Amino acid sequence: MELTGKKIVLGLTGGVACYKAAELCRALTKEGASVQVVMTDAAEHFITPVTMQALSGKQVYSSQWDPRVANNMAHIDVTRQADAVIIAPCSADFIRKLAHGACDDLLSTMCVARPRHVPLLVAPAMNVEMWTNPATQRNVAQLREDGIAILGPAAGDQACGEVGMGRMLEAEQLLAELIASFQPKVMAGKRVLITAGPTFEAIDPVRGITNLSSGKMGYAVARAAHEAGAEVMLISGPTALPTPFGVTRVNVKSAQEMHDAVMAALDGQHVFIAVAAVADWRVVNPSAQKVKKTGDGSVPQLQFEQNPDILASAASRTTLAGHPYCVGFAAESENLIEYGAAKRERKGIPLLVGNIGHNTFGQDDNTIILFDENGHTILPRASKLTLARQLISEISKRIDQHSLFRRP
Ligand code: CTP
Repeated sequence: MELTGKKIVLGLTGGVACYKAAELCRALTKEGASVQVVMTDAAEHFITPVTMQALSGKQVYSSQWDPRVANNMAHIDVTRQADAVIIAPCSADFIRKLAHGACDDLLSTMCVARPRHVPLLVAPAMNVEMWTNPATQRNVAQLREDGIAILGPAAGDQACGEVGMGRMLEAEQLLAELIASFQPKVMAGKRVLITAGPTFEAIDPVRGITNLSSGKMGYAVARAAHEAGAEVMLISGPTALPTPFGVTRVNVKSAQEMHDAVMAALDGQHVFIAVAAVADWRVVNPSAQKVKKTGDGSVPQLQFEQNPDILASAASRTTLAGHPYCVGFAAESENLIEYGAAKRERKGIPLLVGNIGHNTFGQDDNTIILFDENGHTILPRASKLTLARQLISEISKRIDQHSLFRRP
């Protein structure tokens, strides 16, 4: 659970997307958060306080003049204990109120009265014309200047029947962004390129050779880098995983395609993390047509050739922006300490991450060892996301001292 012990104020303003706020409330409590819902009058036209009370397990506040609040100071008390305030959905009108510091209902007063260290996140939800209206955009720019995080909106079909920018993000995306807001921004301003998943080497149009990598570790590293404030590009072999929110994903199949995509994206990257389980060999001349069985029982004879070593190529390349800090992964079945240290040297990289254990493919947990020029450090068993966050933190401590690395 990512939000255990966190107190979240969930504000709802008028908009059809209030139905997604119900899902968000549920998702927040499932992650261990204690959720205090505050609704505007307009929000109550779209969803009842009873629903939000049932989902949050707490009485909902909506009026500034609530006789249940003994000192009549809900606008002060609620945010004094809060770890974050999220307004979802946030209407154009409520954005206007926030931009101007209005205090004409409980939720707006609460936002103005909140202590400055309590982050405020808003998830706009409105018609495309309302979103693109210059007045709304002026107000949104003001919110950004005031340090308020704007989550979305997304483009697509709208409840009003029009199509365009203005849809509220989905509950799971808002949840991911809220969780991210609690992570230290140790990679702010950095660009991070990551490979993940298996590669697929074709034999013919319907068959190929691949491996059991699920992509979970690479995707966790991409998520952790985004949470830490980096601009993240993920070059992924075939996986069934959803793209982590805020990450740009490029899909590839073969090792050669992954190599070409990495080389095309490497310029300007501060960090390159090779998590992918890349096939070492590919089939020479894969057949253009499906290979048929022969009547005499003879089997095809496959010939292999070496794939390019993506990590080694990246590590040996100096780009215009300087030399990216390169990180490799290794899955050894024996002698991990000895082989890991040797592999780091052989690949010419400052940091190598070794997986402990025979087969971490597809698992949610892992134990890893970091090899650098000073030796090795064990990061004990934890979820892949926890380890990915620790790894990103370790990389952030090292990149500024990286002797070959130059800032662009
Ligand atoms: N890697 C890569 N390109 C390849 C092979 C591997 O970028 N063609 C990267 C992987 O993403 C990983 C690291 O290199 O970060 C280690 O991969 P591994 O297959 O363990 O190393 P090898 O050098 O192939 O060594 P061996 O198979 O002999 O253990």
